[in-house]
Amino acid sequence: MNIILLGPPGAGKGTQANRLVEHHGMRQLSTGDMLRAAVKAQTPIGVQAKAIMERGELVSDAIVSALIDAELLAMGDAVGAIFDGYPRTAAQADSLDEILSRHDRHLHHVIELSVNEDALVDRITGRFTCATCGEGYHDRYKQPKVAGTCDKCGGAEFKRRPDDNEHTVRTRMAEYRAKTAPILPGYEARGIVHRVDGMAPIDDVTSAIEKVLASG
Ligand code: AP5
Ligand code: ZN
Repeated sequence: MNIILLGPPGAGKGTQANRLVEHHGMRQLSTGDMLRAAVKAQTPIGVQAKAIMERGELVSDAIVSALIDAELLAMGDAVGAIFDGYPRTAAQADSLDEILSRHDRHLHHVIELSVNEDALVDRITGRFTCATCGEGYHDRYKQPKVAGTCDKCGGAEFKRRPDDNEHTVRTRMAEYRAKTAPILPGYEARGIVHRVDGMAPIDDVTSAIEKVLASG
């Protein structure tokens, strides 16, 4: 099964994708994670993307579509894909259709996490992740069970993203409204969009997504 998780920054795409990976052995394809890895490794793409990401603007369509194409190529045909943070523009949505058909894959569901934008600023500016395994946490909503120790891997180092400040978050949201939200009607016309309340507790959001997956 191949699905898109769609929603503004902080909607919970990464959080839910991690759970689907654990429960269903699907693969998370996050262009944000791929770009952050490229920035860290200082590859030519990373060097180009760094300042754009720090401003909260979108990296070029050609770059992110090439990253997705390469990841799908490297993955087994039987493994389902969760597209997290991709596509984000009409051009990327077109590229995804072309890439999927080349890889003999079909898009089953687009899950839209609907959220209240003001609450998202609070979610994003409070979040941090385990530096070892990437597990996500939040200053108020999801602290490690033992302070300073990752629940998942026992790691003791945590990190925050450089683009998780209020100013950049507002730019990221504006980009979402202007460029990403307009791709939804195209998927709605295909009858594959499922709107899930992203403001519900994390477990409830997971249950709602599980229901969609169980529908086939
Ligand atoms: P990207 O990494 O994709 O960031 P984003 O879309 O801004 O999304 P986030 O990762 O911020 O949020 P999320 O929805 O995954 O939320 P999360 O689960 O972490 O992109 C970063 C940048 O890379 C872009 O700005 C752009 O420059 C570039 N880029 C990436 N892809 C691109 C593309 N395709 N084209 C062009 N440029 C691209 O949750 C947030 C927090 O809330 C966490 O702390 C979590 O614990 C908490 N939380 C989650 N769900 C709930 C809940 N239900 N209740 C309470 N708390 C919750
Ligand atoms: Zn960890």
